[in-house]
Amino acid sequence: MIILAVESSCDETAVSVSRDGRTILSDEVLSQADLHAVYGGVVPEIASRKHIESVAALAEMAVKKAGISRSEINAVAATYAPGLIGAVLVGLSFAKGAAYALGVPLIAVHHMRGHIAANYVAFPELEPPFIALVVSGGHSFIADVTGYTEMRIMGTTRDDAAGECFDKCARVLGLPYPGGAAMDKLSQGGNDKKYLLPRANVAGNRLDMSFSGLKTAVINLVHNAEQKGEEIDRPGLAASFAAAVSDELISRTMDAAAQAGRDRICVCGGVAANSRVRKDLADACRKNGYTLFAPPLKLCGDNAAMIACQAYYEYLAGNTAELDVNGFANMEI
Ligand code: KG4
Ligand code: ZN
Repeated sequence: MIILAVESSCDETAVSVSRDGRTILSDEVLSQADLHAVYGGVVPEIASRKHIESVAALAEMAVKKAGISRSEINAVAATYAPGLIGAVLVGLSFAKGAAYALGVPLIAVHHMRGHIAANYVAFPELEPPFIALVVSGGHSFIADVTGYTEMRIMGTTRDDAAGECFDKCARVLGLPYPGGAAMDKLSQGGNDKKYLLPRANVAGNRLDMSFSGLKTAVINLVHNAEQKGEEIDRPGLAASFAAAVSDELISRTMDAAAQAGRDRICVCGGVAANSRVRKDLADACRKNGYTLFAPPLKLCGDNAAMIACQAYYEYLAGNTAELDVNGFANMEI
């Protein structure tokens, strides 16, 4: 089954063509990050307009690179939630038009299910059940994935997402948006014990997380140093910060695996590209006897290959959409 999938929930326009979910025939990603960097974050209106300009040409290119003709496309998929609503609607509307014109089914895909599916693309042998640590710019949660379209959230952030925390701390250090990768680079060789940063413990569900206290601690530390005219050890701060985020994510992921009785762990989302998180996860999994699946960096950030893959499993589960399906800024997984 050949699926053409579109992703436009934030600042990447992406189109992919896949065969039977896991074989990616083409995977085109056009990042708008440079356009938004000047504003220090994504400007929704600009994102929507850029998606409109790019999506059709990108789809043409994806079909051409896949080496197929349009008539071979069996279904068209798009992210329909969650995301910046104007941005989501561009990709979804394009997909509706394409599905209608080609006379094939439309498949609406939850963006975060797509991030989890990045692991199916990267690891052909992987099947549920497993624990997924999902860490992106807008979401951070741990899910028990019991089937391709069945999953249960075990713990989630009560405030900021891990990626958002990376981006805000990067900004206070004067690094360009999106700051996660730049913070990662800055932290290399830094002393991760240089600054004592808080690890949150939230009342209630011990698998829930919180990153706003950590973010405030970093912002206060930088501002205080600036006011006193003190020099900040920038690599040391970036390394101490990455260690704090990683501690919070990994301890809970290990607890979740023990609680659910799973021995396989997948990580996904933009923050899954972080070198400290990847290393700590690998160490913790080795120590606890779990198998870790961490997709290559290209599949961690937003892309349409992951949407195409999840779309295949949604289709098999009977989850096709009508042409009047709406897009949503927020939606439970
Ligand atoms: O999954 P994603 O591409 O988009 C969303 O669905 O949000 O995640 C983007 C987030 C941004 O916050 C970005 O700074 C972060 O992932 N990120 C990283 C790294 N690469 C991207 N955070 C930490 N370390 C990285 N290497
Ligand atoms: Zn994403």
